[in-house]
Amino acid sequence: MNARSFLAGIGLCVCAACTTSQGELSPDEALDYCDRQVHRTLEQLQQTEGGTDYTRMPRNILKGETDWNCRKATQDEWCSGFWPGVLWYDYEHTGDEAVRAEAERFTESLQFLSEVPAFDHDLGFLIFCSYGNGYRLTGNPAYKQVILNTADTLATLYRPAVGTILSWPRNVQMFGGHNTIMDNMINLEMLYWAARNGGDKRLAEIATSHADVTMRHHFRPDYTSYHVAVYDTLNGDFLRGCTHQGFSDASMWARGQAWAIYGFTVVYRETHLPVYLDFVQQVADVYLDRLPEDAVPYWDFDAPDIPDAPRDASAAAVVASALLELSTYVSAEKGAHYRKEAVRMLESLGTERYQSREQNRAFLLHSTGHYPANSEIDASIIYADYYYIEALLRLKRLQHGKPVF
Ligand code: GLY
Repeated sequence: MNARSFLAGIGLCVCAACTTSQGELSPDEALDYCDRQVHRTLEQLQQTEGGTDYTRMPRNILKGETDWNCRKATQDEWCSGFWPGVLWYDYEHTGDEAVRAEAERFTESLQFLSEVPAFDHDLGFLIFCSYGNGYRLTGNPAYKQVILNTADTLATLYRPAVGTILSWPRNVQMFGGHNTIMDNMINLEMLYWAARNGGDKRLAEIATSHADVTMRHHFRPDYTSYHVAVYDTLNGDFLRGCTHQGFSDASMWARGQAWAIYGFTVVYRETHLPVYLDFVQQVADVYLDRLPEDAVPYWDFDAPDIPDAPRDASAAAVVASALLELSTYVSAEKGAHYRKEAVRMLESLGTERYQSREQNRAFLLHSTGHYPANSEIDASIIYADYYYIEALLRLKRLQHGKPVF
């Protein structure tokens, strides 16, 4: 079998129109596909009795289902910012004012989060994916204020004795101390942004302290990460690393490692400190070294039933997006490697194996949410779609010689 028929066999696009003149994947076709799926989702949401309920956000489509399961945007629903974010990215690609209007309506139903005390650390996911993209694209000053207020709220979870943000206040007793989860690295971007855009400068210091302590304790010597780091609440001593959503305390949970790659790339962007650039390359390299052939990880790199274990397309989308940014900070040789790996991930996610196409209204199939809780296994999940469209837009910007974000 030659390379072309092999690629066709696994559903990879091999037409000239899908690649640039340099032979790299051209993201336009996949972005247009995302736009079609966005409209199918909007159609579903409009079919609700009384019309679209802008306080309910698409969360997942479970295996075999065709329509989104939506969740009310409450303080404890960490995924509510992703659908508005998807709409903003789709608007960025299409310029479609109807999509922008929908993005605004869904985004604005999250405003309450800037007016209430913090429930947990997910405020960055919630507000920066929605309001953050909205402000970037529209400059709406009301959006800026929501982000600034929410950054202050997130900072109330910072504990100086430890030097990190407390991720889950409700679980201090369960973990036996101050808990910080790797996902929390994603929330730092909003703190840095706020510090640079009129907010308290201390927000950037909090973010960097969080990154520093996380770098010191949240990784094993081989740069694989724990999901959860537990610290003594009073004196800040690191007590133990363990898992919550991964296979075991000693395993590399795929999305946790993905959050680490993405998060430390952002910390380098914001601080320009070489220590983070060196570090994030190690964290990325151990992930890349252990990927299966199609560049989409199993939900945990140490899942005992590999190769039959479910995949996590969301981790692949997060890492593809992060590597495209990271590729612009490292040496030319390493940058070409990271970009090639990111494109390989996007090519794989663009095949009929991973794209939902007619099967359901999402962009992607085969993500895993919380395997140990038997929740969202081999499903379409909204954050996979968010990072997929983000990565495609980043690749497009790079191909046009523009900054990646
Ligand atoms: N932040 C939770 C997760 O990644 O599933």
